[in-house]
Amino acid sequence: MGNYKQIMEMEGVTKVAVLGAGNMGHGIAEVVAIAGFTVVMRDITEELVQKGYEGIVWSLNKLVEKGQISEKKSKETLDRITTVVTIEGAISDADIVIEAIPERMDLKREVYKEVEKYLPDRAVVLSNTSSLSITELSEAIGCPDRFCGLHFFNPPIKMPLIEVISGDHTSEETFEFATQFAKKIGKFPVNVYKDSPGFIVNRILTPLLNEAAWIVYEKRGKIQEIESSVKYGLGLPMGAFELSDQVGIDVAVHVLEYLREKLGEEYGPCPLLVEKIEEGNVGRKVGKGFYDYSKDVIDIQVEMRSETIEILLAACMANEIAKLVEKEVAEVKDIDQAMKLGTGIEKGPAKMADGIGIGKLYQVLLEIYDST
Ligand code: 3HC
Repeated sequence: MGNYKQIMEMEGVTKVAVLGAGNMGHGIAEVVAIAGFTVVMRDITEELVQKGYEGIVWSLNKLVEKGQISEKKSKETLDRITTVVTIEGAISDADIVIEAIPERMDLKREVYKEVEKYLPDRAVVLSNTSSLSITELSEAIGCPDRFCGLHFFNPPIKMPLIEVISGDHTSEETFEFATQFAKKIGKFPVNVYKDSPGFIVNRILTPLLNEAAWIVYEKRGKIQEIESSVKYGLGLPMGAFELSDQVGIDVAVHVLEYLREKLGEEYGPCPLLVEKIEEGNVGRKVGKGFYDYSKDVIDIQVEMRSETIEILLAACMANEIAKLVEKEVAEVKDIDQAMKLGTGIEKGPAKMADGIGIGKLYQVLLEIYDST
Protein backbone atom coordinates (compact mmCIF):
# COMPACT_ATOMS: atom_id res chain seq x y z
CA MET A 1 0.00 0.00 0.00
CA GLY A 2 2.75 2.46 -0.96
CA ASN A 3 0.35 5.23 -1.87
CA TYR A 4 -1.95 4.79 1.10
CA LYS A 5 -3.65 8.01 2.16
CA GLN A 6 -6.06 8.69 4.96
CA ILE A 7 -9.56 8.45 3.51
CA MET A 8 -12.51 10.48 4.60
CA GLU A 9 -14.46 9.59 7.74
CA MET A 10 -18.03 8.67 6.82
CA GLU A 11 -19.39 11.56 8.93
CA GLY A 12 -17.50 14.06 6.80
CA VAL A 13 -18.79 12.81 3.47
CA THR A 14 -21.03 15.26 1.65
CA LYS A 15 -20.20 15.13 -2.05
CA VAL A 16 -20.54 12.15 -4.32
CA ALA A 17 -19.65 12.10 -8.01
CA VAL A 18 -21.39 9.58 -10.23
CA LEU A 19 -19.63 8.93 -13.52
CA GLY A 20 -22.16 7.74 -16.10
CA ALA A 21 -25.80 8.84 -16.38
CA GLY A 22 -27.10 5.69 -18.06
CA ASN A 23 -29.61 3.23 -16.69
CA MET A 24 -27.58 2.44 -13.58
CA GLY A 25 -25.69 5.75 -13.24
CA HIS A 26 -28.77 7.92 -12.99
CA GLY A 27 -30.49 5.41 -10.69
CA ILE A 28 -27.45 5.44 -8.39
CA ALA A 29 -27.33 9.25 -8.44
CA GLU A 30 -31.00 9.26 -7.40
CA VAL A 31 -30.47 6.84 -4.50
CA VAL A 32 -27.46 8.77 -3.21
CA ALA A 33 -29.24 12.14 -3.47
CA ILE A 34 -32.38 10.81 -1.73
CA ALA A 35 -30.11 9.78 1.14
CA GLY A 36 -29.08 13.43 1.55
CA PHE A 37 -25.74 13.65 -0.27
CA THR A 38 -24.87 16.31 -2.83
CA VAL A 39 -24.43 14.57 -6.18
CA VAL A 40 -22.67 15.58 -9.36
CA MET A 41 -23.65 13.29 -12.23
CA ARG A 42 -21.40 13.21 -15.26
CA ASP A 43 -21.67 11.79 -18.75
CA ILE A 44 -19.77 12.49 -21.93
CA THR A 45 -22.36 14.72 -23.63
CA GLU A 46 -24.94 17.25 -22.53
CA GLU A 47 -27.60 15.12 -24.20
CA LEU A 48 -26.71 11.93 -22.27
CA VAL A 49 -26.48 13.68 -18.96
CA GLN A 50 -29.82 15.39 -19.59
CA LYS A 51 -31.44 12.05 -20.48
CA GLY A 52 -30.18 10.63 -17.19
CA TYR A 53 -31.52 13.63 -15.29
CA GLU A 54 -34.92 13.17 -16.92
CA GLY A 55 -34.81 9.53 -15.81
CA ILE A 56 -34.37 10.72 -12.23
CA VAL A 57 -37.27 13.17 -12.57
CA TRP A 58 -39.47 10.37 -13.97
CA SER A 59 -38.55 8.02 -11.14
CA LEU A 60 -39.05 10.62 -8.38
CA ASN A 61 -42.46 11.50 -9.86
CA LYS A 62 -43.41 7.82 -9.79
CA LEU A 63 -42.36 7.55 -6.15
CA VAL A 64 -44.44 10.62 -5.30
CA GLU A 65 -47.41 9.27 -7.29
CA LYS A 66 -47.22 5.99 -5.35
CA GLY A 67 -46.93 7.82 -2.02
CA GLN A 68 -43.43 6.45 -1.39
CA ILE A 69 -41.85 9.89 -0.94
CA SER A 70 -43.28 13.38 -0.45
CA GLU A 71 -43.26 16.14 -3.09
CA LYS A 72 -40.98 18.10 -0.78
CA LYS A 73 -38.47 15.26 -0.59
CA SER A 74 -38.57 14.83 -4.35
CA LYS A 75 -37.81 18.52 -4.87
CA GLU A 76 -35.03 18.54 -2.27
CA THR A 77 -33.50 15.49 -3.92
CA LEU A 78 -33.46 17.17 -7.32
CA ASP A 79 -31.95 20.31 -5.80
CA ARG A 80 -29.02 18.22 -4.58
CA ILE A 81 -28.19 16.94 -8.08
CA THR A 82 -26.14 18.82 -10.66
CA THR A 83 -24.90 17.56 -14.01
CA VAL A 84 -21.60 18.09 -15.80
CA VAL A 85 -19.73 16.70 -18.80
CA THR A 86 -16.15 16.90 -17.55
CA ILE A 87 -14.49 14.49 -15.15
CA GLU A 88 -12.63 17.35 -13.52
CA GLY A 89 -15.90 19.19 -12.84
CA ALA A 90 -17.45 16.05 -11.38
CA ILE A 91 -14.73 14.83 -9.07
CA SER A 92 -12.32 17.59 -8.07
CA ASP A 93 -14.28 18.26 -4.90
CA ALA A 94 -15.75 14.78 -4.34
CA ASP A 95 -15.45 12.57 -1.27
CA ILE A 96 -16.66 9.51 -3.14
CA VAL A 97 -16.54 8.73 -6.86
CA ILE A 98 -18.91 6.04 -8.16
CA GLU A 99 -18.05 4.82 -11.62
CA ALA A 100 -21.00 3.49 -13.63
CA ILE A 101 -19.79 3.73 -17.22
CA PRO A 102 -20.15 0.99 -19.88
CA GLU A 103 -18.59 -2.37 -19.13
CA ARG A 104 -15.49 -2.04 -21.29
CA MET A 105 -12.14 -2.45 -19.66
CA ASP A 106 -10.49 -0.07 -22.19
CA LEU A 107 -13.07 2.65 -21.53
CA LYS A 108 -12.82 2.24 -17.78
CA ARG A 109 -9.02 2.44 -17.98
CA GLU A 110 -9.25 5.65 -19.98
CA VAL A 111 -11.64 7.22 -17.45
CA TYR A 112 -9.54 6.09 -14.47
CA LYS A 113 -6.47 7.81 -15.93
CA GLU A 114 -8.45 11.04 -15.97
CA VAL A 115 -9.91 10.38 -12.48
CA GLU A 116 -6.41 9.92 -11.11
CA LYS A 117 -5.48 13.46 -12.18
CA TYR A 118 -8.25 15.22 -10.24
CA LEU A 119 -9.11 12.84 -7.40
CA PRO A 120 -8.81 14.44 -3.94
CA ASP A 121 -6.45 12.52 -1.61
CA ARG A 122 -9.22 11.72 0.84
CA ALA A 123 -11.62 10.26 -1.75
CA VAL A 124 -12.42 6.65 -2.61
CA VAL A 125 -13.39 5.26 -6.02
CA LEU A 126 -16.18 2.70 -6.14
CA SER A 127 -17.01 0.82 -9.33
CA ASN A 128 -20.49 -0.41 -10.17
CA THR A 129 -19.07 -2.97 -12.56
CA SER A 130 -21.45 -5.91 -12.90
CA SER A 131 -18.76 -8.54 -13.27
CA LEU A 132 -15.28 -7.26 -14.21
CA SER A 133 -12.37 -8.02 -11.91
CA ILE A 134 -12.00 -5.38 -9.21
CA THR A 135 -8.32 -6.23 -8.86
CA GLU A 136 -7.70 -5.71 -12.58
CA LEU A 137 -9.68 -2.47 -12.62
CA SER A 138 -7.86 -1.17 -9.54
CA GLU A 139 -4.53 -1.69 -11.27
CA ALA A 140 -5.56 0.93 -13.82
CA ILE A 141 -5.72 3.64 -11.17
CA GLY A 142 -2.91 5.13 -9.10
CA CYS A 143 -4.68 4.47 -5.78
CA PRO A 144 -5.71 0.77 -5.88
CA ASP A 145 -6.00 0.71 -2.08
CA ARG A 146 -8.78 3.31 -2.28
CA PHE A 147 -10.69 1.34 -4.92
CA CYS A 148 -13.49 -1.13 -4.31
CA GLY A 149 -16.54 -2.68 -6.04
CA LEU A 150 -19.98 -1.29 -5.15
CA HIS A 151 -22.46 -3.20 -7.26
CA PHE A 152 -26.06 -1.94 -7.37
CA PHE A 153 -29.06 -3.78 -8.81
CA ASN A 154 -31.52 -2.58 -11.38
CA PRO A 155 -33.57 -0.50 -10.70
CA PRO A 156 -31.29 0.89 -7.94
CA ILE A 157 -34.08 2.81 -6.25
CA LYS A 158 -36.09 -0.39 -5.74
CA MET A 159 -33.51 -3.12 -5.17
CA PRO A 160 -32.13 -3.25 -1.60
CA LEU A 161 -28.90 -5.14 -2.30
CA ILE A 162 -25.42 -3.79 -2.82
CA GLU A 163 -22.52 -6.19 -3.33
CA VAL A 164 -19.35 -4.71 -1.83
CA ILE A 165 -16.39 -6.37 -3.49
CA SER A 166 -12.82 -6.27 -2.31
CA GLY A 167 -10.02 -6.52 -4.85
CA ASP A 168 -6.52 -7.77 -3.96
CA HIS A 169 -5.32 -4.20 -3.38
CA THR A 170 -8.39 -2.77 -1.62
CA SER A 171 -7.45 -1.62 1.88
CA GLU A 172 -9.52 -2.85 4.79
CA GLU A 173 -10.39 0.75 5.53
CA THR A 174 -11.77 1.31 2.04
CA PHE A 175 -13.79 -1.90 2.18
CA GLU A 176 -15.27 -0.95 5.53
CA PHE A 177 -15.94 2.60 4.30
CA ALA A 178 -17.79 1.30 1.21
CA THR A 179 -19.84 -1.05 3.40
CA GLN A 180 -20.79 1.82 5.72
CA PHE A 181 -21.67 4.01 2.75
CA ALA A 182 -23.98 1.31 1.36
CA LYS A 183 -25.79 1.27 4.71
CA LYS A 184 -25.90 5.05 4.83
CA ILE A 185 -27.80 5.18 1.54
CA GLY A 186 -30.35 2.74 2.91
CA LYS A 187 -29.12 -0.45 1.24
CA PHE A 188 -28.15 -3.90 2.52
CA PRO A 189 -24.51 -4.62 1.77
CA VAL A 190 -23.33 -8.17 1.20
CA ASN A 191 -19.57 -8.42 1.40
CA VAL A 192 -17.82 -10.34 -1.35
CA TYR A 193 -14.32 -11.06 -0.12
CA LYS A 194 -13.12 -12.87 -3.20
CA ASP A 195 -13.10 -11.04 -6.49
CA SER A 196 -14.75 -13.61 -8.75
CA PRO A 197 -16.38 -13.13 -12.20
CA GLY A 198 -20.02 -11.98 -11.84
CA PHE A 199 -19.54 -11.82 -8.03
CA ILE A 200 -22.59 -13.54 -6.47
CA VAL A 201 -25.89 -12.50 -8.03
CA ASN A 202 -24.87 -12.11 -11.67
CA ARG A 203 -22.97 -15.38 -11.49
CA ILE A 204 -26.24 -17.13 -10.67
CA LEU A 205 -28.77 -14.94 -12.43
CA THR A 206 -27.24 -14.51 -15.90
CA PRO A 207 -26.77 -18.28 -16.46
CA LEU A 208 -30.44 -18.62 -15.47
CA LEU A 209 -31.50 -16.00 -18.05
CA ASN A 210 -29.24 -17.68 -20.60
CA GLU A 211 -30.68 -21.14 -19.93
CA ALA A 212 -34.19 -19.69 -20.30
CA ALA A 213 -33.19 -18.40 -23.75
CA TRP A 214 -31.61 -21.74 -24.70
CA ILE A 215 -34.82 -23.58 -23.80
CA VAL A 216 -36.73 -21.41 -26.29
CA TYR A 217 -33.98 -21.42 -28.89
CA GLU A 218 -33.79 -25.21 -28.84
CA LYS A 219 -37.58 -25.47 -28.80
CA ARG A 220 -37.64 -27.29 -25.46
CA GLY A 221 -40.28 -24.89 -24.14
CA LYS A 222 -42.23 -21.74 -24.88
CA ILE A 223 -41.59 -18.23 -23.55
CA GLN A 224 -44.96 -18.23 -21.72
CA GLU A 225 -44.06 -21.49 -19.94
CA ILE A 226 -40.71 -20.13 -18.82
CA GLU A 227 -42.17 -16.82 -17.66
CA SER A 228 -44.77 -18.64 -15.61
CA SER A 229 -42.33 -21.18 -14.18
CA VAL A 230 -39.86 -18.46 -13.17
CA LYS A 231 -42.47 -16.18 -11.63
CA TYR A 232 -44.83 -18.66 -9.99
CA GLY A 233 -42.52 -21.65 -9.60
CA LEU A 234 -39.12 -20.19 -8.69
CA GLY A 235 -40.74 -17.15 -7.07
CA LEU A 236 -38.90 -14.35 -8.87
CA PRO A 237 -40.93 -11.13 -9.19
CA MET A 238 -40.66 -11.23 -12.98
CA GLY A 239 -40.46 -13.78 -15.76
CA ALA A 240 -36.96 -14.54 -17.10
CA PHE A 241 -37.49 -12.67 -20.37
CA GLU A 242 -39.13 -9.78 -18.60
CA LEU A 243 -36.11 -9.69 -16.29
CA SER A 244 -33.65 -9.78 -19.21
CA ASP A 245 -35.46 -6.74 -20.58
CA GLN A 246 -35.24 -5.05 -17.18
CA VAL A 247 -31.52 -5.76 -16.73
CA GLY A 248 -30.76 -4.90 -20.38
CA ILE A 249 -30.06 -7.76 -22.78
CA ASP A 250 -26.79 -6.05 -23.73
CA VAL A 251 -25.73 -5.99 -20.07
CA ALA A 252 -26.69 -9.65 -19.54
CA VAL A 253 -24.80 -10.72 -22.67
CA HIS A 254 -21.80 -8.72 -21.62
CA VAL A 255 -21.71 -10.53 -18.27
CA LEU A 256 -22.09 -13.89 -20.03
CA GLU A 257 -19.26 -13.11 -22.47
CA TYR A 258 -17.05 -12.23 -19.53
CA LEU A 259 -18.00 -15.41 -17.67
CA ARG A 260 -17.20 -17.37 -20.84
CA GLU A 261 -13.81 -15.70 -21.15
CA LYS A 262 -12.91 -16.30 -17.51
CA LEU A 263 -14.71 -19.54 -16.68
CA GLY A 264 -15.46 -21.53 -19.82
CA GLU A 265 -17.53 -22.04 -22.97
CA GLU A 266 -20.66 -23.19 -21.11
CA TYR A 267 -21.41 -19.56 -20.20
CA GLY A 268 -21.51 -18.35 -23.83
CA PRO A 269 -24.69 -16.34 -24.57
CA CYS A 270 -27.56 -17.99 -26.43
CA PRO A 271 -28.00 -16.70 -30.04
CA LEU A 272 -31.52 -15.58 -29.13
CA LEU A 273 -30.03 -12.95 -26.79
CA VAL A 274 -27.37 -11.94 -29.29
CA GLU A 275 -30.02 -11.51 -32.03
CA LYS A 276 -31.89 -9.03 -29.84
CA ILE A 277 -28.74 -6.94 -29.52
CA GLU A 278 -28.19 -7.03 -33.29
CA GLU A 279 -31.76 -5.77 -33.76
CA GLY A 280 -31.13 -3.00 -31.22
CA ASN A 281 -33.96 -4.29 -29.04
CA VAL A 282 -31.98 -4.50 -25.83
CA GLY A 283 -34.84 -4.19 -23.37
CA ARG A 284 -36.96 -1.82 -21.37
CA LYS A 285 -34.48 1.08 -21.54
CA VAL A 286 -35.02 1.36 -25.34
CA GLY A 287 -38.73 0.48 -25.18
CA LYS A 288 -38.36 -2.97 -26.71
CA GLY A 289 -36.71 -6.28 -25.95
CA PHE A 290 -38.56 -9.55 -25.67
CA TYR A 291 -41.59 -7.38 -24.97
CA ASP A 292 -42.67 -4.20 -26.73
CA TYR A 293 -43.25 -1.68 -23.96
CA SER A 294 -45.23 0.66 -26.21
CA LYS A 295 -48.04 -1.86 -26.55
CA ASP A 296 -47.59 -5.15 -24.67
CA VAL A 297 -49.27 -5.75 -21.36
CA ILE A 298 -47.18 -8.36 -19.61
CA ASP A 299 -49.61 -10.99 -18.45
CA ILE A 300 -47.93 -14.12 -17.11
CA GLN A 301 -50.41 -16.95 -16.70
CA VAL A 302 -50.00 -19.21 -13.68
CA GLU A 303 -51.47 -22.19 -15.57
CA MET A 304 -48.52 -22.14 -17.99
CA ARG A 305 -46.12 -23.43 -15.28
CA SER A 306 -43.95 -26.38 -16.22
CA GLU A 307 -42.38 -28.51 -13.48
CA THR A 308 -39.65 -29.73 -15.84
CA ILE A 309 -38.58 -26.15 -16.59
CA GLU A 310 -38.70 -25.19 -12.92
CA ILE A 311 -36.44 -28.05 -11.91
CA LEU A 312 -34.08 -27.39 -14.78
CA LEU A 313 -33.69 -23.72 -13.86
CA ALA A 314 -33.39 -24.51 -10.15
CA ALA A 315 -30.61 -26.99 -11.06
CA CYS A 316 -28.89 -24.30 -13.09
CA MET A 317 -28.83 -21.96 -10.06
CA ALA A 318 -27.76 -24.74 -7.67
CA ASN A 319 -24.84 -25.59 -9.93
CA GLU A 320 -23.52 -22.02 -9.80
CA ILE A 321 -24.01 -21.88 -6.02
CA ALA A 322 -21.97 -25.06 -5.63
CA LYS A 323 -19.15 -23.54 -7.68
CA LEU A 324 -19.18 -20.32 -5.62
CA VAL A 325 -19.07 -22.27 -2.37
CA GLU A 326 -16.36 -24.59 -3.65
CA LYS A 327 -14.16 -21.61 -4.58
CA GLU A 328 -14.94 -19.95 -1.22
CA VAL A 329 -16.36 -16.83 -2.86
CA ALA A 330 -19.25 -16.71 -0.42
CA GLU A 331 -21.12 -18.84 2.07
CA VAL A 332 -24.46 -20.43 1.27
CA LYS A 333 -26.40 -18.19 3.65
CA ASP A 334 -24.90 -15.03 2.11
CA ILE A 335 -25.65 -16.31 -1.38
CA ASP A 336 -29.30 -16.90 -0.52
CA GLN A 337 -29.50 -13.50 1.16
CA ALA A 338 -27.89 -11.74 -1.82
CA MET A 339 -30.26 -13.43 -4.26
CA LYS A 340 -33.30 -12.48 -2.19
CA LEU A 341 -32.24 -8.82 -1.88
CA GLY A 342 -30.79 -8.48 -5.37
CA THR A 343 -33.53 -10.16 -7.38
CA GLY A 344 -36.52 -10.27 -5.07
CA ILE A 345 -36.69 -14.10 -5.30
CA GLU A 346 -38.97 -15.33 -2.51
CA LYS A 347 -36.84 -18.18 -1.25
CA GLY A 348 -33.05 -18.42 -1.45
CA PRO A 349 -32.08 -20.70 -4.35
CA ALA A 350 -29.92 -22.91 -2.09
CA LYS A 351 -32.85 -23.46 0.24
CA MET A 352 -35.01 -24.12 -2.80
CA ALA A 353 -32.50 -26.71 -4.03
CA ASP A 354 -32.62 -28.47 -0.66
CA GLY A 355 -36.40 -28.54 -0.91
CA ILE A 356 -36.39 -30.11 -4.38
CA GLY A 357 -33.62 -32.52 -3.45
CA ILE A 358 -29.97 -32.21 -4.49
CA GLY A 359 -30.01 -35.74 -5.96
CA LYS A 360 -32.83 -34.82 -8.32
CA LEU A 361 -31.09 -31.61 -9.42
CA TYR A 362 -27.81 -33.47 -9.90
CA GLN A 363 -29.58 -35.94 -12.20
CA VAL A 364 -30.99 -33.07 -14.29
CA LEU A 365 -27.53 -31.51 -14.62
CA LEU A 366 -26.03 -34.84 -15.71
CA GLU A 367 -28.67 -35.08 -18.42
CA ILE A 368 -27.89 -31.55 -19.66
CA TYR A 369 -24.17 -32.25 -19.82
CA ASP A 370 -24.73 -35.64 -21.51
CA SER A 371 -26.80 -33.98 -24.23
CA THR A 372 -24.25 -31.22 -25.02
N1 3HC B 1 -38.34 4.31 -10.13
C1 3HC B 1 -39.61 4.49 -9.74
N2 3HC B 1 -40.60 3.65 -10.10
C2 3HC B 1 -40.26 2.59 -10.88
C3 3HC B 1 -38.95 2.35 -11.31
C4 3HC B 1 -37.97 3.27 -10.92
N3 3HC B 1 -36.70 3.15 -11.30
N4 3HC B 1 -38.94 1.24 -12.08
C5 3HC B 1 -40.19 0.79 -12.12
N5 3HC B 1 -41.00 1.60 -11.40
C6 3HC B 1 -42.43 1.57 -11.25
C7 3HC B 1 -43.12 0.96 -12.46
O1 3HC B 1 -43.22 1.86 -13.51
C8 3HC B 1 -44.45 0.61 -11.88
O2 3HC B 1 -45.30 1.72 -11.94
P1 3HC B 1 -46.78 1.63 -12.61
O3 3HC B 1 -47.51 0.66 -11.74
O4 3HC B 1 -47.30 3.01 -12.53
O5 3HC B 1 -46.54 1.13 -13.99
C9 3HC B 1 -44.11 0.32 -10.46
O6 3HC B 1 -42.79 0.75 -10.20
C10 3HC B 1 -44.14 -1.12 -10.18
O7 3HC B 1 -44.36 -1.14 -8.89
P2 3HC B 1 -44.96 -2.42 -8.23
O8 3HC B 1 -45.32 -2.04 -6.85
O9 3HC B 1 -45.97 -3.05 -9.09
O10 3HC B 1 -43.76 -3.36 -8.29
P3 3HC B 1 -42.65 -3.39 -7.24
O11 3HC B 1 -42.20 -2.03 -6.87
O12 3HC B 1 -43.10 -4.28 -6.18
O13 3HC B 1 -41.53 -4.11 -8.10
C11 3HC B 1 -39.56 -4.26 -9.23
C12 3HC B 1 -40.92 -3.58 -9.18
C13 3HC B 1 -38.74 -3.80 -8.04
C14 3HC B 1 -38.83 -3.85 -10.51
C15 3HC B 1 -39.77 -5.81 -9.13
O14 3HC B 1 -40.49 -6.24 -10.23
C16 3HC B 1 -38.48 -6.58 -9.06
O15 3HC B 1 -37.89 -6.72 -8.01
N6 3HC B 1 -38.02 -7.15 -10.20
C17 3HC B 1 -36.77 -7.87 -10.27
C18 3HC B 1 -35.68 -6.95 -10.66
C19 3HC B 1 -34.32 -7.59 -10.54
O16 3HC B 1 -34.14 -8.77 -10.39
N7 3HC B 1 -33.26 -6.76 -10.62
C20 3HC B 1 -31.92 -7.23 -10.52
C21 3HC B 1 -31.39 -7.64 -11.85
S1 3HC B 1 -29.71 -8.07 -11.83
C22 3HC B 1 -28.88 -6.62 -11.87
O17 3HC B 1 -29.45 -5.56 -11.89
C23 3HC B 1 -27.41 -6.66 -11.84
C24 3HC B 1 -26.82 -5.96 -13.04
O18 3HC B 1 -25.42 -5.91 -12.88
C25 3HC B 1 -27.12 -6.72 -14.31
